[in-house]
Amino acid sequence: MNNKYVDKFSKDFLWGGAVAANQVEGAWDVDGKGIDYTNYCVGGLMGYNPEKAKNTLYMPERKAIDFYHTYPEDIKLFSEMGFKVFRTSLSWTRIFPTGEETEPNELGLEYYDHLFDELIKYNIQPLVTISHYEMPVNLIEKYGSWRNRKLIKFYLHYCETIFKRYKDKVKLWMPFNELNNMRRNPEYVGGILGEHGHGKMQAIYQASHNMFVANASAVKLCHEIIPDSKVGAMYSLSNIYPNNCDPQTVFETMDCRRRSLFYGDVMIRGYYPTYIYRLWNENNIHIEMTSDDLKLIKENTNDFLAFSYYRTTTHEKGQKFFGDTGGDIGTPNPYLKTSDWGWQIDPTGFRYTLNELWDRYQIPLFPVENGLGAKDIVEDGKIHDPYRMDYLRQHVTAMKEAIKDGVSIMGYTWWGPIDMVSAGTFQMSKRYGFIYVDLDDQGNGTRRRIRKDSFYYYKQIIDSNGENLNEK
Ligand code: BG6
Repeated sequence: MNNKYVDKFSKDFLWGGAVAANQVEGAWDVDGKGIDYTNYCVGGLMGYNPEKAKNTLYMPERKAIDFYHTYPEDIKLFSEMGFKVFRTSLSWTRIFPTGEETEPNELGLEYYDHLFDELIKYNIQPLVTISHYEMPVNLIEKYGSWRNRKLIKFYLHYCETIFKRYKDKVKLWMPFNELNNMRRNPEYVGGILGEHGHGKMQAIYQASHNMFVANASAVKLCHEIIPDSKVGAMYSLSNIYPNNCDPQTVFETMDCRRRSLFYGDVMIRGYYPTYIYRLWNENNIHIEMTSDDLKLIKENTNDFLAFSYYRTTTHEKGQKFFGDTGGDIGTPNPYLKTSDWGWQIDPTGFRYTLNELWDRYQIPLFPVENGLGAKDIVEDGKIHDPYRMDYLRQHVTAMKEAIKDGVSIMGYTWWGPIDMVSAGTFQMSKRYGFIYVDLDDQGNGTRRRIRKDSFYYYKQIIDSNGENLNEK
């Protein structure tokens, strides 16, 4: 561990961008792909409704931005910005259409071979999320999803297949996206549907345990098959502050935060913390687990901590804990500006979070999602987006301050470098990209790509390794 004062991004800092298969690829039913959770959602990830989905004419995530076919031209644009890393997920159902086949779908595997080859051609390292809300619908409907231990076996067969296939191409892996969102949105993270009250809490923690076992097994397997790989734990860690200094408010806020950090406590420290046993005890939660599970979890912790950070909020005494794709939802903070979608912009909170996580875990951190969803206007074929550039500058500055504070950061992937379908609302108009995609919320448009002003700004940041943040 390096305890020396550092005031620069490391030479090998991984600058890049992040997407998820279900939000960009489209091609939802081609080349043997099976149906995944997102294909049966309407109006956003919380809208799982197979019947309605089957009758909905335009399903944004079914066609998305057609990255399935356009990846060569899109990757060329990423390379023009100087990307060192590109994060995407694999669509589980392209490879195992129902999740329980013995043999994988070769066409699905080939697709990702081509995608990785294209990245490697430009010296862009792939960073792969193994499961980003794309779980096979069959596993949800037939087995009740992650509540059922059988899922571990199916998931590990998928992992083994992709580790063996891509061992020479992919060294950075993350078994699950935002696993701690199980506590807020278990529907799309773990396929937990139709539960309420105590039953829901029971299902959340049982499914989480099964996913912890799956994660630890995936870490073990990945290290065996790809000895020079690194396997990250990935969480949603936008932050929450106490709304005032009433000690009760402060304690509740810590408790809320700890419900998320719990996931890191298990996967990174390697054991269940006492506070969670207390929570289970007081809520009559009983988790089926074996001593072998606990041993596996202890011996196979993750190599780095990846996380998304978009915003902060505040907690008031007695407020219920809940959230969405961006993090917890509490009371707005009067000191912060708010995005077009009501997300409060807080770069200092980013520095705070980086310090918080480093102090707690002392393993390399990797912010793999940070970005601004905003409305863009095309004028004379150009998109001027100073708001996005401001957000980027402020968050890169915060990251640099955290590095000076002593935090070890591996890289930074902006969410998402190209406009894509929003996960929470299925809108195209919630644009994160440095690259504009000509497509509206109803699916109209040419899908033509246009470089926004922020495209050149991110290029400048990467070219100078985070030193030149001047906006022209
Ligand atoms: C994260 C997800 O929770 O938030 C992404 O990992 C998602 O899939 C991102 O896109 C931003 O949320 P939204 O709803 O604006 O797309």
